[in-house]
Amino acid sequence: MCGIVGFTGTRPASPILIEGLKRLEYRGYDSAGVAVEEGSRIQVVCRTGKISTLEQSLAQFSLTGPCGIGHTRWATHGTPSEVNAHPHLSCDGKIAIVHNGIIENHEELRRILEGRGHTFTSQTDSEVIVHLIEDAYSMLAFDSSEEDDLADAEGARRPHTPTSELAAGKPSLLAQAVSMACGFLIGSWAICVMTEYEPGKIVCARKESPLVIGRGAAGVHVASDVAALADLVGEVAVLADGQIAELAPHGFVVFGSHDDELIRVRPETMKLSGRSDTADRGQYADFMLKEIYEQPRVIRDTLEGRFDGGELTIEELGLTHEELNLIDRVYLIACGTSYHASLVAKNLIEGWARIPCEVEVASEFRYRNPIVTPSTLVVAVSQSGETADTLAAIRDARIKGAKVFGITNVLGSPVARESDGVIYTKANKEVAVASTKSFTGQLVSLTLLAMLLAQSKGRLKQGQMRLLFRELASTAAQAEQILKDTERVHQAALASKDAKSAMFIGRGMGAAVAEEGALKLKEVSYLHAEAYPAGEMKHGPIALIEPGFPVIAVATESPTYEKVLSNIQEAKARGAMVVAVATEGDERISEHADEVIYIPKIRDAFSPITAIIPLQLLARDIALLRGCNIDQPRNLAKSVTVE
Ligand code: AGP
Repeated sequence: MCGIVGFTGTRPASPILIEGLKRLEYRGYDSAGVAVEEGSRIQVVCRTGKISTLEQSLAQFSLTGPCGIGHTRWATHGTPSEVNAHPHLSCDGKIAIVHNGIIENHEELRRILEGRGHTFTSQTDSEVIVHLIEDAYSMLAFDSSEEDDLADAEGARRPHTPTSELAAGKPSLLAQAVSMACGFLIGSWAICVMTEYEPGKIVCARKESPLVIGRGAAGVHVASDVAALADLVGEVAVLADGQIAELAPHGFVVFGSHDDELIRVRPETMKLSGRSDTADRGQYADFMLKEIYEQPRVIRDTLEGRFDGGELTIEELGLTHEELNLIDRVYLIACGTSYHASLVAKNLIEGWARIPCEVEVASEFRYRNPIVTPSTLVVAVSQSGETADTLAAIRDARIKGAKVFGITNVLGSPVARESDGVIYTKANKEVAVASTKSFTGQLVSLTLLAMLLAQSKGRLKQGQMRLLFRELASTAAQAEQILKDTERVHQAALASKDAKSAMFIGRGMGAAVAEEGALKLKEVSYLHAEAYPAGEMKHGPIALIEPGFPVIAVATESPTYEKVLSNIQEAKARGAMVVAVATEGDERISEHADEVIYIPKIRDAFSPITAIIPLQLLARDIALLRGCNIDQPRNLAKSVTVE
């Protein structure tokens, strides 16, 4: 979703901002803009569409100023357009802001501000922030000039420059004005602000939306995502909720709020690897394909070092066997693909550990009153680690006293920081909006968690654990084998590409794989797809089937294989074009399905890890045949940071 970058230093800001925005492109956006201090003025340039369009426009302006802020916008309030794109300016054009998040009370604030004479130029919720800051600033500036007059009279007036304020550790007028303005906001925000009144300075504030700050060779950088800062800074300060940061060309300070006073605090810091995974898609045509092919590596990396000495260990969870043994209920909370990985895990946790497990979409969980007690384990699964609904669910669960684990792909992400323990999925940066390799990382991590719970409950003995672990590890080689021959997938794509709609079916583990397969197809090819547990088909969805209608069946070897085969025949009898994902050696299936994609034989518990691969490839292949943008599907954002 929206992305923020900012820079103040000794080099022209504009190219640095553009480079940062490009690194955030993967998050999804529909317009972009920058504000750069040019001489004594703030120059704003916004464009709809791609960053490259903004970059071309900027070339005409020849901006050289060394301080600026930039933004990619994913429209929530107001259409994607230049007027709604950030940065937004105050009425006098002297203050500029960029904002990530949602201001829930924006309508009320807009009414009040308009009543006070402010003129709005956009339909966004964000614009209220800059007008609030404008009011707060003029009030504080008035008070301060009164004080300065007094100090002048006493011969004690101090110079009013950003650097001297930073050195003194005192908040500037802008920082105070931002802090005051935030006091009126309800919702979530990460904001960066600059003003002509205080050249060379950027003030940042956050609540629930991330912001990180780092010192580089040419100045100080701020961004909403560390991806924008890789290679530029070695370490970042992670701004916490309620903190305000003030950036100047040679350093930055962070303030916390105590009794309405801004007091300097030491921020939490995080080292960066210095590697930007976003840059290179290598030999692959798109990131989605590259990431699909990375899955064998993800499986190996996620398993590495987990089963040394004959026992499964996940130290990051920070719980003893005894504490794990006390857990009597598990909630898996997630959205989208992460939700589908959780559906698989429910079967494993209940099957192996015999602990009741519920899987819930985070946006529902947060508004219910679920039964959560101190012996409940809440597992938040999120690739990005910053999904707003999942974060809200974590907070809610913690208030209710539950232990919360995060399963995430992003080091130091809000999910990681706000959970009691965290498992990293080792997928490395996922750039394509459609999740593929992170699904695999989640499946493997959740499988380990299920095994650990079963081990702690004494339900799985050492020998069984060893056997399971060995089989789990073998999925890496199997994934490689599947990826070597994709011809049958391509045939299935050709047979399905002109359809208007498709149905995915499966049972047990296969039902969760079907859900994820349908989501992939919808996301990247815009072909309508639904997933049903195969047994549900005759309770309604079968009415959709007509000659040529694609039914994609997950029919791998499992206790319900015969049932799935019957469902395939029911679909076939009504003219469906059936594509089946089946286990090597299954000859019966080819009598009933039009296209069969074989995968190697594997235990049912682990079959989702390999069965999903042909469906990921199928979705991408169909999307290519339909001429879609594979990595950045329309309307979608990689990180869903608003509700
Ligand atoms: C998956 O392809 C989607 N991009 C989307 O459903 C995603 O899984 C969902 O938004 C959850 O994101 P998260 O894992 O980062 O929390």
